[in-house]
Amino acid sequence: MNMDVLAAIQKRREITSFKETPISDTDLNKLTMALYLSPTGNNLPSREFIVITNKPLLAQLSKTTPYMQWLEQAAAGIVIIGNEELSKYWLQDASIAGGYLWLAATSLGLGAAWGAVYHSEDHSESSQRENYVRELLDIPAKLRVVAILGLGYSAIDPPPKEMYSQDTVFHLNSFGSQ
Ligand SMILES: Cc1cc2nc3c(=O)[nH]c(=O)nc-3n(C[C@H](O)[C@H](O)[C@H](O)COP(=O)(O)O)c2cc1C
Repeated sequence: MNMDVLAAIQKRREITSFKETPISDTDLNKLTMALYLSPTGNNLPSREFIVITNKPLLAQLSKTTPYMQWLEQAAAGIVIIGNEELSKYWLQDASIAGGYLWLAATSLGLGAAWGAVYHSEDHSESSQRENYVRELLDIPAKLRVVAILGLGYSAIDPPPKEMYSQDTVFHLNSFGSQ
C-alpha cells in the first residue's frame, strides 16, 4: 500500500499497539529515505538518526520515559538526534524529520508513535532522559536526543481523529479574525 500525502495526513494517528510482524528492509529503506530527504534550515545536516531493530535494545529504550512503553512492542525505532552546534534550527530540523517519518510510515500501512525525549522546560529532566539514551547508544554528549519514534504494523484500527473546531487555530489575515 502506498497513499498520497494528503491521504496519509488524513489517516495518520498515533499507534501505540503493534503486531509482531517485522518491517521489510524495502520499507525500512523507504522510511529512512523520508528522513534523509526531510528539509533543514540552511540545508545543514543538523539531525542524525539511529535505526533500532534489536528487540532487547527497544525494550531498554522503552524505559527512557514513562511515556513510551509501547516501544517495547514496536518492530523498529528511530532515534532522532539534533546537533545544536551545527545549526540554530536543529530542533525544527529534527521535528520536521519526525513528521516526515510519521507520514511515510502511514503511507506504507505502518503505525508510528512519538516518544518525546528532549524537554525544553525542565533541563534536569531532559539531561536525565537524554543521558539514558546516550549511554545505551554511545551518542556523544554534545548531541541532543530529541525523540524516539516507534514503528510497526498496528494491532488496532483507530477511528478518524476527533478534532477541535478549525476556528480554534485558524485566523484570516489578522490574529483574532476567522
Ligand atoms: C512533540 C510531540 C511529543 C509527543 N510525545 C509523546 C510521548 O512522549 N509519548 C506518547 O505516547 N505520545 C507522544 N506524542 C503523541 C501525541 O500525544 C499524539 O500525537 C496526540 O495525542 C494526537 O494524537 P494523534 O497522533 O493520534 O493525532 C507526542 C507527539 C508530539 C508531536
